[in-house]
Amino acid sequence: MRATIQQLKGWQSSVTRTSMVFIGALSLSMFTILYLLFMIEQYYRVAPSLRVLVYFFLWLAVLTLYSFHTLYLLTHEQNVLAQHEHGMRKVLFQTVESLVAQLEAHDPYIGGHERRVAHLARAIGEVLGLAEERIDGLVLAATVHDVGKIQVPGEILNKTEPLTEREFEIIKSHAGAGSEILGSIEFPTPVARIVQQHHERVDGSGYGEGLSGESILLEAKILTVADVVEAMAHERPYRPALGIDKALADISEKKGTLYDPEVVDACVMLFTEKGFTFDEEKESEPAG
Ligand SMILES: [Fe+2]
Repeated sequence: MRATIQQLKGWQSSVTRTSMVFIGALSLSMFTILYLLFMIEQYYRVAPSLRVLVYFFLWLAVLTLYSFHTLYLLTHEQNVLAQHEHGMRKVLFQTVESLVAQLEAHDPYIGGHERRVAHLARAIGEVLGLAEERIDGLVLAATVHDVGKIQVPGEILNKTEPLTEREFEIIKSHAGAGSEILGSIEFPTPVARIVQQHHERVDGSGYGEGLSGESILLEAKILTVADVVEAMAHERPYRPALGIDKALADISEKKGTLYDPEVVDACVMLFTEKGFTFDEEKESEPAG
């Protein structure tokens, strides 16, 4: 990331240098041409009307040259910025992928779960018309939403018997722990806050910071629904898969109390009308 910023700074100074050389050369040429014109006028006694015409075309030529120069700089600027933006997105997604790889080594269930959640979260975000940048942030957050579980002992994560109260408290700490881990990375969107809020519920009955309603980010509400649906539809260490029909029935029943109504509607519509399915493909890579 720092290298990219350094490259941008280097490019900015090179553009400034190019502009200064161009303007310097233009000024020198103008001065020389004007001096020559002045000398020619003195020698040949040019008619005043012709003199005005020459000056007009000279001014027009300078204006055209300067316009082309500005256009070139703008086009160059756009291309370089687009390249760097793509590079920065790629670095972000690679950083997140390396976090997921570490987490998978700690808990083999998590990697596939997070990719499927990210896949569904992206689809819900698109149905709700989120801007591309927000969808990127949502997908990044979904891909690592359980990264805080790296601090939870494997015996607790893979326990097949019911959890004790103390063990459940340890599990609950993963939302805050994940937010702390991600807080040190400079994301362009609030990825750490989305992760922090992914167990909040609309009626305030969730955990994290005890948020409710509008104080929960829309991205976190989407992640919550995607997380619940994926978890219910698939097998977990402590129970068999419950199936997608049961998962959709559950979120529909709790629509407006635990889950955001618009998010639930979008999710149900994806499965029942758009033929959405979870697939095992990696969905976290940026397009292009
Ligand atoms: Fe979680």
